[in-house]
Amino acid sequence: TDYYCVFGNPVKHSRSPLIHAEFAHQTQQTIEYTAQEAPIDGFAGAWQAFIEAGGRGANVTVPFKGDAFALCDTLSHRAARAGAVNTLMVGGNGRTYGDTTDGIGLVRDLAYHRVALAGKRILVVGAGGAVRGILEPLLAEQPSGVVVVNRTAAKAEQLARDFADLGSITGGSFDTVNGTFDVVINGTSASLSGDLPPLPDALFNTHAWAYDMMYGAESTVFLQWAGPRGAKLLDGLGMLVEQAAESFFLWRNVRPDTTFVREMLRQQLR
Ligand code: ATR
Repeated sequence: TDYYCVFGNPVKHSRSPLIHAEFAHQTQQTIEYTAQEAPIDGFAGAWQAFIEAGGRGANVTVPFKGDAFALCDTLSHRAARAGAVNTLMVGGNGRTYGDTTDGIGLVRDLAYHRVALAGKRILVVGAGGAVRGILEPLLAEQPSGVVVVNRTAAKAEQLARDFADLGSITGGSFDTVNGTFDVVINGTSASLSGDLPPLPDALFNTHAWAYDMMYGAESTVFLQWAGPRGAKLLDGLGMLVEQAAESFFLWRNVRPDTTFVREMLRQQLR
């Protein structure tokens, strides 16, 4: 048996053990995957103890993605760009390799739902860690342009500068939103407090999609706002499942099918 886990604090409500158990069952991999609560100031020690006990890899969630990034001996290109690590693995030499699968998880979820990105105009709302993690994979799909807007405009402007070498990207305040979009992604944590980012009513092209990186039993206020304005709606549940599938692939070199796990998690939300 190979050991994996998810580190978080709190971590009790993590769906990852369930998701990975299902992936392992489906692909006939013998793994054990648990949830581990690391102390807020003790992530590096918790990871060290886990690998000394035979752990092979881990997922990392709030609030440890930056700590995980800091302790890696080697980083993937996309993790270096994101400044965050959600997937750790131990190399043969005992060194720690870090990657981030959140952004590719979003892009794969959009592909799963047949949402085209190439040549499309994309609005990203928010400029925190979650948004930094998705920009490289989004730009790799060659949209015609990505616009990032944020309550604190300077953070959106900084992100646009940091990713400008990868494609057409601009950043600014909510007031700078101009024209219409094919895909609008809410990457703020505003949904958690039930807040709606101030966006213009005429935001969506025909056949446009609204995507909230959050999910829950109830539709987020952003999706409740976007539906009547003509957008097709997606929440972040598929992104959660796809980032897990990508981590599983990194560890086990087999790609699980995500359909069953998507349906299982959706059922549990009801
Ligand atoms: P995460 O890891 O979820 O990205 P973060 O780095 O703290 O967390 O970023 C949170 C994002 O949600 C930021 O873009 C934040 O805007 P600011 O940079 O202006 O703080 C945004 N956000 C949080 N609450 C918000 C609200 N009520 N209205 C608008 N934006 C909000």
